[in-house]
Amino acid sequence: MSRFTNRIAFLTGAASGVGRATTIRLASEGAAVFAVDVNTNGLAETAELGDNLEGSVTTRRLDVTDVTDIAAAVTECVDALGGIDIVGNIAGIARHHHIAEVSEADWDLMNSINLRGPFFVAQATMPHLLERNGALINIASNAGLMGQAYTVPYCATKGGVVNLTRALAMEFVKTGVRINAIAPGGIDTPLVHNFQLADDIDFSLMQNHIGYRDPSSAKQIAAFFAFLASDEAANIHGSILSADGGLTTA
Ligand SMILES: NC(=O)c1ccc[n+]([C@@H]2O[C@H](COP(=O)([O-])OP(=O)(O)OC[C@H]3O[C@@H](n4cnc5c(N)ncnc54)[C@H](O)[C@@H]3O)[C@@H](O)[C@H]2O)c1
Repeated sequence: MSRFTNRIAFLTGAASGVGRATTIRLASEGAAVFAVDVNTNGLAETAELGDNLEGSVTTRRLDVTDVTDIAAAVTECVDALGGIDIVGNIAGIARHHHIAEVSEADWDLMNSINLRGPFFVAQATMPHLLERNGALINIASNAGLMGQAYTVPYCATKGGVVNLTRALAMEFVKTGVRINAIAPGGIDTPLVHNFQLADDIDFSLMQNHIGYRDPSSAKQIAAFFAFLASDEAANIHGSILSADGGLTTA
């Protein structure tokens, strides 16, 4: 038996980066993964990579800003696969801004994807996780644990994810559900490759979040996710676990 035989995972952000790597990692260890994302082309590539693994990959378009569709996707997952054991709130966006340039629409979009989405995914999946003593894992960021220049809305949403995780963990502390967050530093994914730095920035303000070590790979974060989702992490609940090469040590 592999670690995730007979386990069902609902993962957002599955079309790219960490979400794709986690989909493949869990399915390669036997999970049936319900993989959702707004990017259908990317999802198709994830589905192709998920062919012929021990588990399975089912894909479905979901924009996590659409709360009604979150509930519909969760119902479809349960109807198709039989329940939910593992939830990954992985979808996210990042932007570099001077604060004067942040529009109301920029703020709302960042919040809707990075923080509101994870809350409503947690709300919709919790009854199913409770039924099976499952695990919910949010992908936060070192940006949720420290102040970073030029990414104020991103930091605010990731700080929100950190305390969303803790508050949910407290509310469900007397149940068998486990709720944790991973707070990665830089990860070598399209999110970083597409990151546009604003002109005229003061680079000396950025050293504390650039750090000193190489970024993680998406596969390394997926391996950490798989450990946290597994029975080997049975005693870990309400934790914010850094994987950031020492960024938040100081
Ligand atoms: N890459 C990094 O350096 C880094 C560091 C710390 C934390 N993170 C976090 O890790 C998570 C995964 O990021 P990644 O690096 O794999 O980036 P990525 O850009 O490769 O993947 C993000 C995925 O989220 C999806 N997404 C965006 N908006 C969505 C929406 N409205 N509905 C559904 N899906 C949507 C995208 O289509 C994409 O597939 C994010 O939450 C990100 O904030 C990334």
